Amino acid sequence: MAFRQRLFRVLLLTLASTFPFSLLRAQVAPPPLDDPAIEQRISQLLAQMTLEEKIAQTVHFADSSTGPGSPHADYKEQTIQGHVGSFENITGAAETNALQKLAVEKSRLHIPLVFALDVIHGYRTIFPVPLAMSATWDPSLVERASRIAAKEATREGIRWTFSPMVDIARDARWGRIVEGAGEDPFLGSAMAAAYVRGYQGSRLDDPQSLLACMKHFVGYGAAEAGREYNSVDMSDRMLRQVYLPPFHAGLEAGAGSVMSAFNALNGVPATSNSFTLTQILRKEWGFQGVVIADYGAVRETIAHGIATDGQTAARKSILAGLDVDLESNTYSRYLPELVRSGAVPESVVDQAARRMLRIKFALGLFDHPYVPEPPAGAAPQPDPADVEFARTVAERSFVLLKNSGAAGKATLPLGPEVHSVALIGPLADSAVNMLGSWGARGNPADVVTLRTALTSRMKPSGGQVLYAKGTEILTADQSGFAAAVAAAKQAEVVVVALGEDAAWMTAEAASRAHLDLPGNQQQLLEAVAATGKPVVLIIFSGRPLALPWAADHVPAILEAWFPGVQAGPALVRTLFGDVSPSGKLTVSFPHSVGQEPLYYDEFNSGRPADGVDLSHPPSNPGEKYHSRYVDEPNAPLFPFGHGLSYTKFTYSPLELSTTRLSASALNQKTTPALLVSATVRNTGSRSGDEIAELYIRLRGTSVALPVKQLEGFRRITLAPGESKRVEFTVGRDELAFYNIDMQNVVEPASATVWIGPSSTEGESADFVVAE
Ligand code: BGC
Repeated sequence: MAFRQRLFRVLLLTLASTFPFSLLRAQVAPPPLDDPAIEQRISQLLAQMTLEEKIAQTVHFADSSTGPGSPHADYKEQTIQGHVGSFENITGAAETNALQKLAVEKSRLHIPLVFALDVIHGYRTIFPVPLAMSATWDPSLVERASRIAAKEATREGIRWTFSPMVDIARDARWGRIVEGAGEDPFLGSAMAAAYVRGYQGSRLDDPQSLLACMKHFVGYGAAEAGREYNSVDMSDRMLRQVYLPPFHAGLEAGAGSVMSAFNALNGVPATSNSFTLTQILRKEWGFQGVVIADYGAVRETIAHGIATDGQTAARKSILAGLDVDLESNTYSRYLPELVRSGAVPESVVDQAARRMLRIKFALGLFDHPYVPEPPAGAAPQPDPADVEFARTVAERSFVLLKNSGAAGKATLPLGPEVHSVALIGPLADSAVNMLGSWGARGNPADVVTLRTALTSRMKPSGGQVLYAKGTEILTADQSGFAAAVAAAKQAEVVVVALGEDAAWMTAEAASRAHLDLPGNQQQLLEAVAATGKPVVLIIFSGRPLALPWAADHVPAILEAWFPGVQAGPALVRTLFGDVSPSGKLTVSFPHSVGQEPLYYDEFNSGRPADGVDLSHPPSNPGEKYHSRYVDEPNAPLFPFGHGLSYTKFTYSPLELSTTRLSASALNQKTTPALLVSATVRNTGSRSGDEIAELYIRLRGTSVALPVKQLEGFRRITLAPGESKRVEFTVGRDELAFYNIDMQNVVEPASATVWIGPSSTEGESADFVVAE
């Protein structure tokens, strides 16, 4: 199907809180990238351009190239000469305007630049990190947060963001798991499309629209052993079933650019991989936008070993379909000679230049290259409504992992009778960590920490916050423990804020071989818990941590991720029950690092461990020979989809509109889909949000399929005693898969469907997909 046609088959997710996700495929037009009038203007321009000017459109300078002594210290002169097409990390209306002026007024053909930045989870108003945003299971929140980021970034001249990162990540050791939407392709696709709609709005030439970039294409999240930049070897089926769908969803929502990944996929670096960049992206998906390399990655094809010099690196990358060279200066240096010698046809350069010009036209930069400059001394400030929205997003991203307590009474929420709280831990008052990684132009001074928010909550009524840092994030020094234990002893409740260092331990180049609490934080936790006081553990992390001791010994555990500028107020409102936690995990939390990679939609194997005695040694020696560990359960500590609330929800048995579907009718789309529904009831005494999840398993198919796959979800709000019916459609989209012949079809199968609160619970029913 042509890209243009597919542009209209977009997932309409803004209604996600009202309708089941699987019902939201609707007809909305994302910004077009193949406007005939624009194509004509590009052709006229290309006809006037020298080879060097065309190559310039494939050249992207990063800030490290513009500092003194760098090859691009003369970037202003290069701009005037028309040697560069785009920049990153130059921000501010005056700064971008000044450089733009050189391009538009001083260069021969007056071609505007486009300014890029990694605007990942907010620009100035920093939202929770993307993994946290995915835990809201609410694409409409993600869309609005991205729209706010676009509004803030564009007023400083930025029109291109290197976001969203849609890499499926199933290995918690990989630091970049924080930048994506977790382990599942269905949820990941919903989030991918939401980011794109938010950044790009309904018109790319709206001055408040940011061009989105789907990254990192592709397979990067499957880096072997979770080690950053490591190679990936995976089957085409796995690639198409799990890793490609979020990219496709983002492109269907209209994303105008793609960034190729650092990794090699099945032996070929993603930067010079014609199978992914040309066959899949251009031929199968009809993508018309621009593909940019990751930072320095064209040159890195030499280190990968598929090129022995820069010339070959440039040739292989551009011929594979890589349009823009980010930072490595390989295209600028070698393409002129490669074209003149005939090693690279000029038409290939024309095409890459055309794609870059296409996005510049689409963004309206030829007609409106500048942004309004604020009066001197009046730098734009965050809008209070946006800041409040950041608090809402944070509140909905928190995942209550555990909530027990003495005499059967849950530890959270804290009641009004609580007058003294000991607040302990290195993350309790760390503004900079609350911003997470990739904080764009976020300012730690905008952050309200947990300590500040808790103090302002408790002080007015005479309450006491006994703060003791206890330790640093990464140290062996225990000298602060005594004060922390003393504070705990004096308080009624202890809140311990532990976790990772956002900059050092999460995002790029932050793989970990251990998933426990860093430094001596575990010892601090044990020392504080030994006081016998009720402990609430708040974890700030960019990945699942292995917390088996805490799960056994600490009554309440809240996963807070890195919540952004409103970390403190969101946490305090949650601790005191102004809102109930409602986030759910989008990644499985392990008992130990040895279980990684860990994900719910695994394959059953020929010797599944269901119902097997997992103790060691097993009571029946025959039970040893199963797909299991001898020293750890198979199941995660906290599964995908898990998240508790302060209230309770029950699910009714499922109702199915039919128990028999026809594979051939579904493949021809002549059959109505199956409707599956359940009634969810709030049986507790508080209002709360529940996320109902729909899973499907198919058996008897030509290839083995996972034990369960998410195919729908819905966030609903229920008052105490209230019930709502959640209904999902199960049709071709939910039942098709890549079969033994690599065709994406529905096959006859025995099917089970679940609707429930997590990937390990819920009501189920069976149906048949006949011939
Ligand atoms: C990262 C990308 C990022 C790029 C530009 C790279 O190191 O892998 O995700 O977009 O830098 O800043």
